[in-house]
Amino acid sequence: MYKCALILAAGQGTRIKSDLPKVLHKICGKEMVNHVIDTMRKADIEDINVIVGKGAELVKEKTASRNISYSVQEEQLGTGHAVKCAIDFLKGKKGVVGVFCGDAPLIKAETVNNLFKSHIENNNSATLLSSILEDPTGYGRVVRKDNEVLKIVEHKDCDEKELKIKEMNAAIYCFDIEELVNSLDKLSNNNNQGEYYLTDVIGILKEEGKSVGAVVIDYDETIGVNSRVQLAEAEEILRKRINLKHMINGVTLIDPNSTYIGDDVEIGRDTIIYPGNVIEGNTKIGEGVILYPNSRISNSIISNNVEVQSSVIIDSKIGEKTTVGPFAYIRPESIIGNNARIGDFVEIKKSTIGNNTKVSHLTYIGDASVGENCNFGCGTVVVNYDGSKKHKTIIGNNSFIGCNTNLVSPVKVEDNTYIAAGSTIVNDVKEGELAVARAKQRNIEGWVAKKGLTNK
Ligand code: UD1
Ligand code: CA
Repeated sequence: MYKCALILAAGQGTRIKSDLPKVLHKICGKEMVNHVIDTMRKADIEDINVIVGKGAELVKEKTASRNISYSVQEEQLGTGHAVKCAIDFLKGKKGVVGVFCGDAPLIKAETVNNLFKSHIENNNSATLLSSILEDPTGYGRVVRKDNEVLKIVEHKDCDEKELKIKEMNAAIYCFDIEELVNSLDKLSNNNNQGEYYLTDVIGILKEEGKSVGAVVIDYDETIGVNSRVQLAEAEEILRKRINLKHMINGVTLIDPNSTYIGDDVEIGRDTIIYPGNVIEGNTKIGEGVILYPNSRISNSIISNNVEVQSSVIIDSKIGEKTTVGPFAYIRPESIIGNNARIGDFVEIKKSTIGNNTKVSHLTYIGDASVGENCNFGCGTVVVNYDGSKKHKTIIGNNSFIGCNTNLVSPVKVEDNTYIAAGSTIVNDVKEGELAVARAKQRNIEGWVAKKGLTNK
């Protein structure tokens, strides 16, 4: 059976009060609409069409990497109208279309599979997902008769009896494509919001004697994000789900409630994560890593047995058994070798640092290539910027850079060299040399007494 999916993402999102289109608000570091797309992919749905409207260009830009097609809903006249705008995508297709909302990001791939399965096995024209909620205020209600789904009534259109219904419509459905297309023309906007509701398709099909099913699932998967309050609720649910997965896989989270791990992050077993860590994007963390409190790690590779403490690591790679921090800042495109040390108040930018090299304190290294087994004294600065251009510094293996050295780029320091503390290096240093670049010390005997400062 042919399967495809529509994702509704054109709405105004007025209730979230934002300049950003609602579906681009992030939970656990990823845009809501991209959560939905990624879940579709996990459920092996290849043909995905996203309906865009508000902030269409931005929504397209942020979803561009995901190989999907788009329909445009110029004016947001309701969810039914939105689906109608995807008519070119649906026309001529035979099979099942799943309809999802870009503001309902917590649906799981296995649930999507179950929904399609139930729809196909029961030969339904439509199958919807619903949840039972103590307080379903704001959601559409699933109206049943003799346990069978009759129709969906929007909260604003409910009468007193319908308001008491606790079964909410998740706005996630499967439809027979041809039945859906035929029903769209029958929608009217004769309701309290003056919109064309997709939900009315359920009642229309039912009245025509078609079979309509429902799969009731946990609210944890069906929450719709309309406001910042629900955004935080969804974030919390997903955070718990992600953290649980890692703990089951053998990762220790000292306090899961204050550990923030993105949906796409991978973590090896026996890694220990202390509170206050934020791990984002496509980060991969190896085995036996210890993340002491309060780091932010984004789109980076942290190899096995690394230790990080109170540091920021962005778009970079840290080699095995290396220690980072406390208070280090590793900026994009940095590659740190194995067994290295990047200590306190060290900033590394777009540089490679070889194995076993120690940069222990108060140092800036930018646009540099540093070899193995080097030692940087405290307060070294790679002077990579001349006021208009950036330049590169190259340091070979086994170099000892004395404290408070300036390396004025471009400059090359070869293997097996020493630089005296306090030097400002502007010329290359050849293999085996000691470079001293500072004023000679002069001691003036009796100077203090001569100035009359003795008894101070
Ligand atoms: C919708 C359902 C409601 C359900 C709830 C679950 C309808 C009429 N109501 O209500 O039964 O309980 O979701 O969360 O479907 N959108 C468009 N174009 C539009 C309008 C909306 O693309 O013209 C998109 C929005 O971007 C959003 C989704 O459709 O992603 C849902 O729209 P929203 O306005 O949030 O619907 P709800 O009022 O939440
Ligand atoms: Ca909604």
